[in-house]
Parts: sequence; structure tokens; C-alpha cells
Amino acid sequence: MGLRDPNKSSPVLCNRLTIRHSSEADAAAIAIVVTNAFGQPQEADLALALIAAPERTISLVAECNGRIVGHVLLTEIGAPTRAVALAPLAVEPEFREMQIGVALVREGLAQAAGEGYQAAFVLGRNAYYERFGFRSPLADSFDVPWQGAQFMALELTPGALAGKSGALVYPDAFFA
Ligand SMILES: CC(C)(COP(=O)(O)OP(=O)(O)OC[C@H]1O[C@@H](n2cnc3c(N)ncnc32)[C@H](O)[C@@H]1OP(=O)(O)O)[C@@H](O)C(=O)NCCC(=O)NCCS
Repeated sequence: MGLRDPNKSSPVLCNRLTIRHSSEADAAAIAIVVTNAFGQPQEADLALALIAAPERTISLVAECNGRIVGHVLLTEIGAPTRAVALAPLAVEPEFREMQIGVALVREGLAQAAGEGYQAAFVLGRNAYYERFGFRSPLADSFDVPWQGAQFMALELTPGALAGKSGALVYPDAFFA
């Protein structure tokens, strides 16, 4: 896949985008990408803590020409149905608006569905996550400290959240 920065007449920034599972050797690169994306280290600390935690995670990196420029993490949470939380999602500032974030989320959700997870939850921008089918009303019946309009749910299996409610149990790292 060839990706060009639409705002510049610069050469192609990314002429080979690869999405793959991360390995232990990627930890430092993930920390840099996530810190650069958020402009602070907290989300990178969260990502690395979750990867090291006992809960099952799906950790994907986006590589452009062999350089890690994006990362997404999905972590199993306690819920009335098998579910994951998507957080954090990060793309290096200079590699934005090239559909890398979309590619990471789509692959992460596909992997989660393939592993039998039936729902995904995310806290974030509605305009961004609604394109994947996340909806805030679908998450309203679940109890989390960050409940609100930006807390959204997606059924990976149609109807998986119908009639479901109650507390969602996030790994301790989310509260560190
Ligand atoms: C959010 C983020 C991951 C998006 O990465 P990206 O690779 O630039 O996103 P994409 O190129 O895949 O975006 C595709 C679409 O989303 C839109 N979009 C990008 N960032 C957005 C944002 N922050 N809010 C709303 N829409 C956004 C783009 O305009 C584009 O829209 P279009 O397809 O209608 O043209 C990246 O901006 C980032 O790392 N931000 C800082 C960390 C962060 O906020 N993470 C998410 C926590 S909720």
C-alpha cells in the first residue's frame, strides 16, 4: 500500500504499510510512538503495563517501511459477554491522516472477533470511532468510571450486548 501525505507534495512517506502483532522487542518503539502521539508518557506507560499484565491483549503495530509508526492495544475486560477494551490507539504525528489508525483499529477488531470476543468498548472521539460502528448508546447500560457520551461500544457479534448491563471490570493498570 502506498501512502502519501495529502498536505504535502513530499515523497511517499509510507510505501509499505504492514500491520503485525508486536513482540517483546518492540516495547521501546511502542513507548516512543505512544508518547509522541499523546505528547505525554502516561498512555505509553498504560500500554506497556497492559501488555505485561496477565489479561489477554491484542497488541498490533503499524510499520511504514520497517519503522514502527503506530500502535493499538485491545485488552480483555470483565463483562457480561466476552469483551475487549480498545486503548490506547496512537499514530506518530508525521504519519497521520494516512488511514494508519483506521487500519490498526480494523485489524484489531477483526483479530478480536476471530478470537471469539463479542464486543468492544472504547473511550474516545465519537467522530473517529463511529466509522467502525462504535455507538455511545450501546454502552450506556454499563458501569465504568468514565461513563459518558464519549464511551462507546461495538458488537462484534450482532446482538451480543442486547439486554446486557452492569459493571465492566478493567485491568488494574487502567487505574494506576
Ligand atoms: C487518533 C489517531 C490515532 C488517528 O490516527 P490517523 O492515522 O491520523 O487516523 P486516520 O488517518 O486513520 O484517520 C482517518 C479519518 O479519521 C479522521 N480523524 C483523524 N484523527 C481524528 C481525530 N482525532 N478526531 C476525529 N477524526 C479524526 C481523519 O480526518 C480521517 O477522516 P476521513 O477518512 O473522513 O478523511 C491519531 O491522530 C493519534 O495518534 N492521536 C493522538 C492520540 C489519540 O488521540 N488517540 C486516540 C484516543 S481516542
